[in-house]
Amino acid sequence: MTTATTTQHSASVLFAQALRYENRADPYPCYEQLRSRPVVCMEDGTWLVSGHREISLLLRDPRISADRRNPQQQQIRKSLLVEDPPRHDQLRRLVTEEFVPRVTRMRDHIDALVTGLLDAHMSEQPGQLDVVGDLAYPLPVTVICELLGVPREDERLFGSLARRLTRGLDPVDTQTEEELRELQQARGELIEYLEGLIARHDATDGDDLLSGLMRAQGPDGPMDPVDLRVTLGLLLIAGHETTVNLIANGTLALLRHPDALARLRTDPELATPLVEEVLRYDPPVQMSGRSTLADIDLAGTTIPKGARVRLLLAAANRDPHRFPDPDRFVPDRPDNAHLGFGGGIHYCIGATLARAEAQMALTALARRLESPRLLADPPPYRENAILRGPERLAVSFDRLVPDSRLT
Ligand code: HEM
Repeated sequence: MTTATTTQHSASVLFAQALRYENRADPYPCYEQLRSRPVVCMEDGTWLVSGHREISLLLRDPRISADRRNPQQQQIRKSLLVEDPPRHDQLRRLVTEEFVPRVTRMRDHIDALVTGLLDAHMSEQPGQLDVVGDLAYPLPVTVICELLGVPREDERLFGSLARRLTRGLDPVDTQTEEELRELQQARGELIEYLEGLIARHDATDGDDLLSGLMRAQGPDGPMDPVDLRVTLGLLLIAGHETTVNLIANGTLALLRHPDALARLRTDPELATPLVEEVLRYDPPVQMSGRSTLADIDLAGTTIPKGARVRLLLAAANRDPHRFPDPDRFVPDRPDNAHLGFGGGIHYCIGATLARAEAQMALTALARRLESPRLLADPPPYRENAILRGPERLAVSFDRLVPDSRLT
């Protein structure tokens, strides 16, 4: 083997190892090894980028396309997530204008939802909570459904569809034929559901996001029905599994770092930098993808035009060239330019919403659970390697302290 093929081989082996389920609870040692070559080509021709500097440059490079769809997906209309300028920018502007003000108006309501979900456990003495099933999962589903205007009675149906669909984000070659068929089935069901929802929706004077998007006027008039359906699907899916994982990963970090938990209990201001640290230390979206529109020279090598590129955001977040002591959880870490929400023109639209939900959920857990203890460490993880997070997070506690505003 030549040196180049050896490098390709070891990168492929390491990446496969990082994706293997037995490493789901801690893929970071594999990422660390991968980072020794921050830009590397694997045996299947995909390029892996794992350095903070290199990913940050690529996210802002106009010679990069967000379109990384595999051949089975080429027939599907592109969402703004995989669209390039100028269409990306037009769609994004329409969505941002409708989305951001509604999120701001929802803050108090999110806090009330967190209180209500925890109060459901008030009668248990001493208590047990599955932080995923009882809080991290229902909170973002309810929030996004209310924000968009999905009827309450559809939340369950929609929640299970979203779960089935996120598996589609994993690399295709890690999925079985059966899983790909199941994914196709779930996509069909989502399209059918969303088309029905749009057809039934009266946007005349509704205040929900769907009504706003139906009425919005872009440079070419209103969104066409397919763009509307695809955008709606993206918002529902993108805001779902990701926020669940942020709350669950954050709870896990707090329970493993009792000092941080104790500080958050008495200082709710800590929630802001602490959630940023969770997004760096254990990000809900571990990686993303791109393709190249031209040859790109980077870190002493050249990624050729037409290559598929994987951006290992979670590896970049622990790059010692960017973050001092990167494997340490520092709840008030200064200068925390993590890539947990990506960067450049595709920077997460839902960042403000996700931050608000996680800050409120983690603060409430810290203040209200007396002597919380993890019942399984590491907890069981879900299959998905990209939107990575615990399946369940069982916590026992002595008492649920009543919400201070109620006492
Ligand atoms: C903790 C929660 C979240 C995380 C970690 C997260 C992460 C990300 C990341 C990494 C990207 C960039 C992907 C790329 O460049 O390839 C992204 C884009 C996006 N996110 Fe989020 N996200 C979260 C929550 C949300 C929520 C709540 C919504 C909306 C309801 C949302 C909507 C979007 C959209 C629409 C994009 C595409 C933006 C574009 O392409 O211009 N996300 N998100």
